[in-house]
Amino acid sequence: MKKYSLAIVLVLFVFCVPLVFTEIANSYKEPFNILDNPLPSLVLTVFSLVLITLAWVLVMALKKVELLQNEKDGVTPEVASSSFMTWWRQLMQKWTKSKSMEQESEIVLDHNYDGIRELDNTLPPWWVYMFYASILFAIVYLVRFEVFDGDTPEMEYKKAVAEARASLEKYKETATDLIDASTVTLLTDEKDLKRGKAVFNLNCAACHLADGGGSIGPNLTDEYWILGGGIKNVYTTISEGGRDGKGMISWKNTLKPQDMAKVASYVLSLQGTTPATAKKAEGDLWKEE
Ligand code: HEC
Repeated sequence: MKKYSLAIVLVLFVFCVPLVFTEIANSYKEPFNILDNPLPSLVLTVFSLVLITLAWVLVMALKKVELLQNEKDGVTPEVASSSFMTWWRQLMQKWTKSKSMEQESEIVLDHNYDGIRELDNTLPPWWVYMFYASILFAIVYLVRFEVFDGDTPEMEYKKAVAEARASLEKYKETATDLIDASTVTLLTDEKDLKRGKAVFNLNCAACHLADGGGSIGPNLTDEYWILGGGIKNVYTTISEGGRDGKGMISWKNTLKPQDMAKVASYVLSLQGTTPATAKKAEGDLWKEE
């Protein structure tokens, strides 16, 4: 029973790990990006190492069996030599077809160039097969790129970049939370300004008055700005707050970026209106560049 339990564990291991692995790999977007997801690569490496160790143990065990058998049959170790070395030598012979020094007389050519002689070696099979493989490659290459006009790596790259750009644009369109001081634009849409007005009346009117005339906070309807005019500066002021101790707090933790953009646009839409009680202008005259 003990004999089998090890075998069962091994079989389970060999079958289950790939199953678990595909499960893991499926749940990741880029399973083989080692930097982002080291786990799949780690599992694969450990699994391969275990398999290699198993194979090695098996080979050693087989060798041991052969040795014991030889001992039983009375074969001396020299005759048996290492089966691995014999296999290796045969393999080399098969792939190089080289003649040993003793056999050179069989292939030496008749010519004798001032004592220099030449061997008529056959082409080594490893080289010949590589040559055939390159012919095959050339045919595939020719058909793919010359006949069917396949994409060169440069074209593939350009296509991939264009695709990535397009999907980025699409993402930006839907993800309005990406607005920040550098990307914010003046909104003129009726709906956006209405939303901006609602946000303003709720959060800002206490200090700036509903018509922007100003009380604790400065007048927002004139062309003079303490912290800079224009959509980008106004957005920054709302998001980051005014100078320390003046009373204008940072709103970025209270308001969503879209709402800050809308209220900033609404504030700018008040330019040139005449509030009921206008506070004296503060700051510098702002000219849009
Ligand atoms: C507690 C009172 C208070 C509230 C509420 C308040 N502000 Fe202010 N706001 C101020 C003060 C005070 C300043 C001047 C800051 C400074 O001098 O640094 C200011 C400055 C500003 C400025 C810059 C004006 C300039 O001349 O550069 C803008 C724009 C502004 N507020 C918009 C808003 C908006 C939009 C809200 C609502 C989300 C709001 N404020 C809410 C008090 C307030």
